Amino acid sequence: MLRAILAIALLAGAPLAVQASESSHTSVIPDVQFSFEGPFGSYDKAALQRGYKIYRQVCSACHSMKRVAFRNLEALGYNEAEIKSIAAEYSVTDGPNDEGEMFERPARASDYFKSPYPNDNAAKYANNGALPPDLSLITKARFGGASYVYGILTGYEEAPDDFTLMTGQHYNKTMSGHVIAMAPPLSADMISYEDGTPQTVNQYAHDVATFLTWAAEPEMEQRKKMGVGVIIFLLAFAGIMYATKRKIWADKH
Ligand code: HEC
Repeated sequence: MLRAILAIALLAGAPLAVQASESSHTSVIPDVQFSFEGPFGSYDKAALQRGYKIYRQVCSACHSMKRVAFRNLEALGYNEAEIKSIAAEYSVTDGPNDEGEMFERPARASDYFKSPYPNDNAAKYANNGALPPDLSLITKARFGGASYVYGILTGYEEAPDDFTLMTGQHYNKTMSGHVIAMAPPLSADMISYEDGTPQTVNQYAHDVATFLTWAAEPEMEQRKKMGVGVIIFLLAFAGIMYATKRKIWADKH
C-alpha cells in the first residue's frame, strides 16, 4: 500500500523526461529547470512579471493571447490600480454607440489582450504567409511545454551545408523539420530588467516561457496543493486502517 502511494507520488512529480534525439529533423527539446516543476512547484512572481514584459514588448507585435484578460494579471502580483493603468495603454474597439457607430476607447481591466492583427489573413500577410499562433495555450499545445518554448527561442543555429532555406525561413533545432518562419525574436539587452536579472537571450526565453505556462495553466498551483493534500490524507488514512486491522486481528492467531 505504502509503496503504491509512493509510486504514485513519484510519478506525479516526475519531471518530463525528453529524449533529445540527434537525428536530423526531429525536434530537440532542451532540458531546462523551472520553478513550477515537481509536486511542490510554484510560479516565481518576479519571473512572471519579467516574462509578461517580454511578451508585451516583443512577442505581442505578432502573437495574440486572446484568452488572457488584463484583470488576470493580478496573479502576477499587480494591484488593481497598476492593472488599470496597464490596460489603459491599449485602445480597443467597442460599440455600436447610440448612433450605430463603432468607437475606440481605452481598454479596461475586464478586456482581453489586444490582438496585433485584425484577422488571420492580415497576420499571415504580414509574416510571409506564416501564421503566428495565439500564445494563450501554446505550452499545452506543444510537447515539452515551457521547455519547448524556451527551445524555440534559443534554438536558432546556422543551417547545415546540405540544408536549403527559402527567404523568410530560419534554421531552428527545436522546430520540427528545423524550419521556422519566425526570425529570432530575442537578442541580448533588448529589454531592460530593473531587478538586476541578466539581460540575456536565455534569461528572456526562460522568463517568457514561465509567463506563457502561467497563461495556459493559471490554476496549476492550486491543483498541486490539492494533490499534495490528497496524498497526505491517503497516507494518514492508510495508517489508521493499518492500526485498525491490527487491533481487530490482535487476538486471532
Ligand atoms: C515578427 C513577428 C514575430 C515576433 C515578434 C514573434 N514571433 Fe513567434 N512566430 C512568428 C511566426 C510568423 C510564427 C510561425 C512560424 C512557422 O509556422 O514557421 C511564430 C511561431 C512561434 C511559435 C510556435 C512554433 C511552433 O511550434 O509552431 C512560438 C512558440 C513562438 N512563435 C513564440 C514567440 C515568442 C515567445 C515571442 C516573443 C519572445 C515571439 N514568438 C515573437 C512571428 C513572430
